[in-house]
Amino acid sequence: MSDDPASEGESGPTHPTAASQSPTGAAILNIPKVSIQGSSSESEDTPPTPTASGESGPAETAEGEAHPNATNQNDDDSIGEFDDGRSGKLTLGILLQEGIIEAGEGVMAIEYLGQTFKGDLMPVGKIRSQETGLVFNNPSAWAIYCKKIVNPAKKSGCGWASVKYKGRKMDHFKSQWTKLKAQRDAEEAERLASQEAQLAEDLRRGRQQLEKDLGAGLAPIIRHAQLSEKQPSDDLDIYVETDPFTDKARVQPFNMSVSASALLIIELHAQCHPVASTCGYLAGQWDINAHNLAITHAFPCLGMSDMAEPDRSAKIEFDIYNAIYRKHLVLVGWYKSCPSNLPKPLPTLRDVEAQLAHQVRLLGANDATYSPCIGMIFKPLGLNLSAAKSDCLAYWVVPPLETNPYDYGKPMMMAYTCIVDPCLSQDALDQIDRILEQRQDLIHQDPSLGLESRGLLESLGDSIKRKAPLDQQGLLWPYIYLYFPSVFRLNPFKMEVPTLKLTDNILCQRVNTFLSGFILDDQRSDQVRQIFESELDAGMKDGLEGSSLQMENTYVPDLINGTEEGQFLSLDLGGTNFRVILLELKAGKIVREEVRYYQVPEEKRLGQGEDLFDFLGICIYDFTDKLGLSQSCQSLALGFTFSFPMTQTAMNQGVLVSWTKSFNCPGVVGKDVVDLLNHSLAKVKPDSQKNLSIEVIAILNDTTGTLVKGAYDRPNTCIGLILGTGCNGAYFERSENVIRWHGGKYDCKNVIIDPEFGAFGDNGCLDFIKTKFDEAIDSASLLPQSFTYEKYFAGKYIGELARIVMVDMNKERLLFPCQDVEGLLIQDGFPSTMLTEVVEDNLNQSVERTITVLKKFSANCSPDDALIVQHICLVLSERAALLVGIPMAVFLRRMKTQEGLIAVTGSLYKCHPNLKARMEFFTRKYYPEWKGESFLSDDGSGKGAGLIAAIAKRLEL
Ligand code: GLC
Repeated sequence: MSDDPASEGESGPTHPTAASQSPTGAAILNIPKVSIQGSSSESEDTPPTPTASGESGPAETAEGEAHPNATNQNDDDSIGEFDDGRSGKLTLGILLQEGIIEAGEGVMAIEYLGQTFKGDLMPVGKIRSQETGLVFNNPSAWAIYCKKIVNPAKKSGCGWASVKYKGRKMDHFKSQWTKLKAQRDAEEAERLASQEAQLAEDLRRGRQQLEKDLGAGLAPIIRHAQLSEKQPSDDLDIYVETDPFTDKARVQPFNMSVSASALLIIELHAQCHPVASTCGYLAGQWDINAHNLAITHAFPCLGMSDMAEPDRSAKIEFDIYNAIYRKHLVLVGWYKSCPSNLPKPLPTLRDVEAQLAHQVRLLGANDATYSPCIGMIFKPLGLNLSAAKSDCLAYWVVPPLETNPYDYGKPMMMAYTCIVDPCLSQDALDQIDRILEQRQDLIHQDPSLGLESRGLLESLGDSIKRKAPLDQQGLLWPYIYLYFPSVFRLNPFKMEVPTLKLTDNILCQRVNTFLSGFILDDQRSDQVRQIFESELDAGMKDGLEGSSLQMENTYVPDLINGTEEGQFLSLDLGGTNFRVILLELKAGKIVREEVRYYQVPEEKRLGQGEDLFDFLGICIYDFTDKLGLSQSCQSLALGFTFSFPMTQTAMNQGVLVSWTKSFNCPGVVGKDVVDLLNHSLAKVKPDSQKNLSIEVIAILNDTTGTLVKGAYDRPNTCIGLILGTGCNGAYFERSENVIRWHGGKYDCKNVIIDPEFGAFGDNGCLDFIKTKFDEAIDSASLLPQSFTYEKYFAGKYIGELARIVMVDMNKERLLFPCQDVEGLLIQDGFPSTMLTEVVEDNLNQSVERTITVLKKFSANCSPDDALIVQHICLVLSERAALLVGIPMAVFLRRMKTQEGLIAVTGSLYKCHPNLKARMEFFTRKYYPEWKGESFLSDDGSGKGAGLIAAIAKRLEL
């Protein structure tokens, strides 16, 4: 293929070769290979430093009672030859292996109360008593044996301190080994750190090179007016500015529309081939009467990067040409990508020349054969997130005046409308598959091509999803996403946090070790999943009697069906804001909504229950008064979202099990909340509203409301998740599985279950993942030892967890090493909003915002301090994503739905930059068939109550 536009004539009038417009520099660039090792969790493998307790102390007491039988493997100190030293315990076997001592007869001795005992050191690291011939696993066992002979009351042997080897106390050899080990550990840490630094450097260079290569020949951008007549020496690689037709009050020569699926293919093609320019053809229809060009299809030229094979390129183009005509489409243009670091998509002078040549060629002999030709330039997302925006330019070239035939044509920007297709055609899906397959091949040849950051992929996902038809948005991106494994380079499903890189490598290691308790490896994560499943089954059977999962029947059997009519009141109580909402429904659609917020003061949240419900009543009447509802209607049905664990025996009955989050009002637990509200509504009713009767017809949990509101937004919804102050998620269970059902079972297939999974682990079943920080959070909470699971990650706790970790790190001089940071000591001083800001800063590869946040606590915040805090926040976020993903996967699998969607309400989900993506990732890990997604269903808890009241009214439950 030739770069010269003049040579295109050979291709025939309606079949432009990609020669002039195809990315001629498409050879894969030579990026340094990046090894795929070196994750954030190396610390897990770091052997712990030896402690004295491993050698004496508690071990001695244990073995002191033991019979000195040499083969007792249960002796704490008796691991002997089986210990590889990684446990940190020192054994004689290790000393022998290290060559610090040697086996020999009579080399061991104990002197006790004037008596001397002699022993042989056996090559396997055991001691044979010369007096009795008995064999002992370790010095302690031998010492206690000998000492008891002299003094039967003796309980401990102080083995290492009292046993001598060739006349010197074993302590001496122990310290020799400790020094040797410390030296080795330091060397190993240094080696790991330098390997890590080397990998980081390779990655940085790789990226730099990639950016450079992508921008190589990033020639100047000039305006058309600066161009003079064509000269053979002209640099055709310079970029030319394009102006919109509106600038000079000119009229665009024709109208234009582009289908979103064509744009999607262009974008995916460019993004999947990050190091080379991509190109392809555009096809569609030209409507001569409407003067409208509709671009409906994009045909990527795949596999054209090998410039050494012109035949292959010609074949690819020929196939595209055939496909276009088989589909009765018209070739209407071509596209190519430009470097991501151009400020905006622009054509080069070469593109402009080629475009003009195509325009002329497609002119046809007469109106019947004429079709306009468009050029499109796509600028992909930058590897550097700050330049992340992708953009697509459509342009058309105004030919030079006949009087100046040697001038260059002027590229003009074409305005176009984007038309989202009703569904993705099989053609489009096939194209997507082919692009992804090519990407796999490319990465297979050169793994360093898959260097996308997670942030970049998320932007790509957002952009691509917007181009997919509404009902396929949820399916498409997860599918495409599977082809980007490079982001999870080490182990695709491992809890992964980007590797911490600090100038001080040892500090880096120490921080990793410090945080290692938060990292759940595959085995422990899977254990959490298994326990969740068995607690779920037990909860279904016996509720809180047999499980930490309550699995409460909500008695809500249905969703909005489009027949609901009327006005409904909704209440939402769960956080510090109480909301009263009026919803008006017509044919199941919300046609009016009014909302008012009322702050619930602390004295009401912690005061007598009756006062709280009176307060709610007063707010409700304030609301109905402000809206003049007592004048316009006589009775209102009310749905009450009460976001606390309840036991229900009907849809309008809910007994509080326990308070959670920031409420703890005496006198409510064990009572029916509907009764309490009705009582207060009667008590505080103002005279002005005596004609208005309010009937509480449904009480529900916020998750139930979110599920119903989510299904109202998107019909495939089958889970309502709250990821805010607290965390919990409701799902549909087949009614035949629901044992606990008061009154007669309704005739329904499914019913919504509120599992109250925030309490998962309250029975201790999850203690194996608890860190000392989780314990501290729990004991400082309003209601210790309850709602264990949500305390690991929910919005009320995650920032606080980060804060107490920081305080501890500061004490250990790992963070803000030169000062005691008192600002950090204030409880709840680092709310989850700060954590999300810090994570976002990290994803943008910056520390600026983190430093600004941290300046509130300490004037001296170094970039390393900022990186450490980012790392803490990332680790906690990743754990949160995993712990939410697990129940989601379990519910989806249980419902056997592959397409089911998760509706989510809650500030943590809404504000966190990648919790959604990571949670979906872990959900898919445990339920790989899942093709759905989660989505924000704003105010599910509030509006859901009104919708459920409407359902209850319709069903007359
Ligand atoms: C707490 C409540 C639960 C609620 C969740 C989310 O876990 O006990 O009922 O759904 O918070 O608000």
